[in-house]
Amino acid sequence: MPFIDRDFINDLPNRVDIVGLINKRVALKKAGKDYKACCPFHEEKTPSFTVVPTKQIYHCFGCGESGGVIDFVMKYDHLSFVEAIETVAGESGISVVYDQTAKPVDKRFKRYNEIMNELNNFYQGQLKTSSAKNKVVSYAKKRGISGSIAKRFELGFAPPGWTNLFDQYSEKEESIQDLLSMGMIVPKKDKKDDYYDRFRDRLMFPIHNAKGSVIGFGGRVLSSQDNPKYLNSPETPLFSKSKELYGLYHCRKYSRRIDSILVVEGYMDVIALHQQGITNVVATLGTATTPAHLQILSRSAETIVFCFDGDKAGRDAAWKALKTSLPSVTSGLIIKFLILPEGEDPDTLINRESSKAFSKRIEGAQTLSSFLIDHIKEEVPFDTIEGKTLFLEKSASLINLVNYSIYRQQLIEGIANAIGQNITQVEKAVELSKDQNTHFSNSNQAEHKQFSPQPMSQTISNKSHSSMKSLMSRMISCVLTYPSIVNDPETTSVIEERARKLPKSEVLLELIRHAQVESDLSKEALLKPYKSKERVYLRLQELSTMEPFLSEFEAQEEFGYALTAAEKYYERKSTKASILSAKTHDEEEAVMKSIMKNKMKTVNQKKTP
Ligand code: UTP
Ligand code: MN
Repeated sequence: MPFIDRDFINDLPNRVDIVGLINKRVALKKAGKDYKACCPFHEEKTPSFTVVPTKQIYHCFGCGESGGVIDFVMKYDHLSFVEAIETVAGESGISVVYDQTAKPVDKRFKRYNEIMNELNNFYQGQLKTSSAKNKVVSYAKKRGISGSIAKRFELGFAPPGWTNLFDQYSEKEESIQDLLSMGMIVPKKDKKDDYYDRFRDRLMFPIHNAKGSVIGFGGRVLSSQDNPKYLNSPETPLFSKSKELYGLYHCRKYSRRIDSILVVEGYMDVIALHQQGITNVVATLGTATTPAHLQILSRSAETIVFCFDGDKAGRDAAWKALKTSLPSVTSGLIIKFLILPEGEDPDTLINRESSKAFSKRIEGAQTLSSFLIDHIKEEVPFDTIEGKTLFLEKSASLINLVNYSIYRQQLIEGIANAIGQNITQVEKAVELSKDQNTHFSNSNQAEHKQFSPQPMSQTISNKSHSSMKSLMSRMISCVLTYPSIVNDPETTSVIEERARKLPKSEVLLELIRHAQVESDLSKEALLKPYKSKERVYLRLQELSTMEPFLSEFEAQEEFGYALTAAEKYYERKSTKASILSAKTHDEEEAVMKSIMKNKMKTVNQKKTP
């Protein structure tokens, strides 16, 4: 039997849409925030089976059956646990991560975990019992760390002295070897079998893995005269800083919902934010953001906000994070950047401002594309022709790091806008830079390809030259499956307006209008008016089974992408026609100008829904 990766199992329920998955099996009706149906697990005439999307659970008030999406699929489809995981993942367009390394647990790992846990208790105890505890307690106070937050993060104190750990364990040869493997003691130069403690006279931050086991430590000096300011566990069989995020365990434990996750630079930033009630936060451990970090982050939340200090180092780190992020951008993942004022970090800022003000900053974080454009602009003399060319070259090579074609297209548009050039020009530059194999290393990209979550909208993105017909079919499919996505009177009128401009959009328009009449229209009811038109009816029936199956949220996005792609396709076709008809250079230029004008207009329209 294959082993499925444990983290994957834990994360899966957060990544899928319980309503969509259950609705495929039992027709649900919206009831307030929840969904209701007659219970599939017992006989009943009035619906008491409830699905609560906010909690990702179902419950039947009639028979008491309840659980999460995996439980439901196990029971309803009569599957084993592993089969249910595979089914749920498959229907959500997620590929299952199998644990290739799964083998009987090495006895050493059990010992490593035990000794790290013991040390964690020891350091925490020293906060109360060490004869030197006063200075660490007053340091924590000075930094405004409350008792309860210190407890939450299990802060401790590594007392002064060179051999506290070594003395404790010197009788047990095996433990000394384990301490050595965990990097907690360090062999003395030239002296075999003699060791000193790595962490001395420091405030200790235990580092937990996602399951909550202690896998390493960070230690901060108490006096600004000492250095290095922070000391971290080295790479060990338990701890790899490129794969771990400080605070992930606490983020999951203390956040009710994790819509977005804030990535900060320091231990103290995580702690200060928790203390002010912002718990959806993690920190990288003194390293740049790695592809492995991004993988974990993208599984944990839909929006990732990278937060960096406003100094040169912070800006450089942000830029590095952007480059690492580009290959990971997929449908449904939003990446943003929050650069703080110079000289501030989240810890200082949230303590000076308020948690409300800080949350405002998070909300106002810059999108990846806008950060990318701004940053490259600053790197070149943008006001000159040469500068703009350089800008184009630099951005083109970055666009080549993006695998997700819809996002590529959006970036291309943004860049074309920034330099006042047409899209084809930018597309050419992108092609050119691909051939040139530019100065950006592509190693990241290769690494990413292996694990990048499957873009949900591959149906569209794979066919970059999707015909108008297939885009139209896709939109119809989305509407038939989730009429509710075109049910908001405000946004739908804009959608209707845009759809009307497309050729052969009559059926789509009709469906959009029907869907608006009643909020809970079933697929059958939507199809009914077409029963007399056999060919249309059969085609619509075909389109009403969505392949691959998307959640409501994804379908809404997909609908948006398809609409934009269709507009673009149509626009390009008509542009081609007018370019062909232009005979002189002046005429050509006039055509270009009017295209740009139109483009700006649509961009502005989209900005104000
Ligand atoms: P910063 O230098 O930004 O410090 O390091 P900070 O987080 O604001 O720390 P305080 O507020 O002075 O206590 C950010 C992170 O970089 C790593 C640590 O993980 C730290 O949290 N770092 C920093 C080190 O590993 N070693 C160092 O010497 C300094
Ligand atoms: Mn700080």
